[in-house]
Amino acid sequence: MYLTKEEEKILAGEKGEVMERMFRLLVRLGDIYGADRMIPVRSVQVAGVSYKSIEDPGMEFLEDIAKKGAKVQAITFLNPAGMDMEDWKKMGIPPEFAKKQIRIMNAFAEMGIVTSATCTPYLAGNLPRFGEHIAWSESSAVSFANSVIGARTNREGGPSALAAALCGVTPRYGLHVPENRRPDFHIHVTAELKGSSDFGALGYHVGKIVKNKAPYFTGLPEADTDHLKALGAAMAASGAVALYHVEDQTPEARLHDPKGLEKVEVSVKDIAATYEKLNTGKKADIVIFGCPHASLREITEIAAKLKGKKVKRPLWVCTSRMVKECASRMGLVKAIEGAGATVVADTCMVVSPIEDIGYKTTGTSSGKAANYLPGFCKQSVMFRSVDDLIREVLQ
Ligand code: F3S
Repeated sequence: MYLTKEEEKILAGEKGEVMERMFRLLVRLGDIYGADRMIPVRSVQVAGVSYKSIEDPGMEFLEDIAKKGAKVQAITFLNPAGMDMEDWKKMGIPPEFAKKQIRIMNAFAEMGIVTSATCTPYLAGNLPRFGEHIAWSESSAVSFANSVIGARTNREGGPSALAAALCGVTPRYGLHVPENRRPDFHIHVTAELKGSSDFGALGYHVGKIVKNKAPYFTGLPEADTDHLKALGAAMAASGAVALYHVEDQTPEARLHDPKGLEKVEVSVKDIAATYEKLNTGKKADIVIFGCPHASLREITEIAAKLKGKKVKRPLWVCTSRMVKECASRMGLVKAIEGAGATVVADTCMVVSPIEDIGYKTTGTSSGKAANYLPGFCKQSVMFRSVDDLIREVLQ
């Protein structure tokens, strides 16, 4: 892999120990995947933020490099933390967990990272443009950035994204290279899809089929950004899809022709079977919306559906701090909390320790959450539409 003179110096340790280690990691990745050179990144998103995921070794590593003066060179956002950084007591988070989560966030802040903790940075102030090279690690955000925006990122791991943030570059391979952005499968949808949970079910089903390849969809109804974020998140979770195209809807679709690709049809029966498969629980102890983090539009809809009602079991709506702030100004947080539900910022049902809080069955409208909750949080799952789940907590 070609390195500039400046890059050779970093590798020789001339910019300090941390930069050398981080740059070495990027070079190694580039060598493994056949990168030709490094390219500058304009935006980074780092996963591996929750204490639940990184525990003491991860926390100590971050504190160590922060203490040694590591600073990011591109705007860098964080994935959700393990708790609402302001209202963690209200969530029932154990104080020992909270203490360590705060230490992690302080270490990131010291490196100059924006401590927004969200999987939807594109809704919260970190919006790349079409064709821009970025290094993001949250799989649903990677899928959204590549597919809906047309930015270019591989599915980075937490360490490689952090290295890209500190060095300001990433190796050029994979989805940074135009030839690798072609579709591999033609997915024709004959099922009629009604809301985000249907898009999540479709994503779960297709992710299982295409694995880490790129699907090209035809037959999809006009989808809004919330539907596409649900679709991409589920495909990234059940498979490892980092890029998809939708005829007439995503920006690179017109560059490709699905003719000649392996064709798979998705019918109403496939969607129904996916709901069946993902439903492993009968009565939800808690219902959680906002996977990926809820948009203002989704929060507005939930607030309208809860108007004048009282929930009988906990209902969380997870979102970013920025969107919560705005929702608060619009009176939406008050409306939701007036119904006895909670708007939770900075975290989500998968990366917070909900199993330690005592929940056993979680209701979700997200195909991604339904995929992860059993393994990651020891939960049984009720996977339903938003309307069905609101009805569930009102009984
Ligand atoms: Fe985001 Fe958590 Fe879902 S990180 S995509 S809300 S699992």
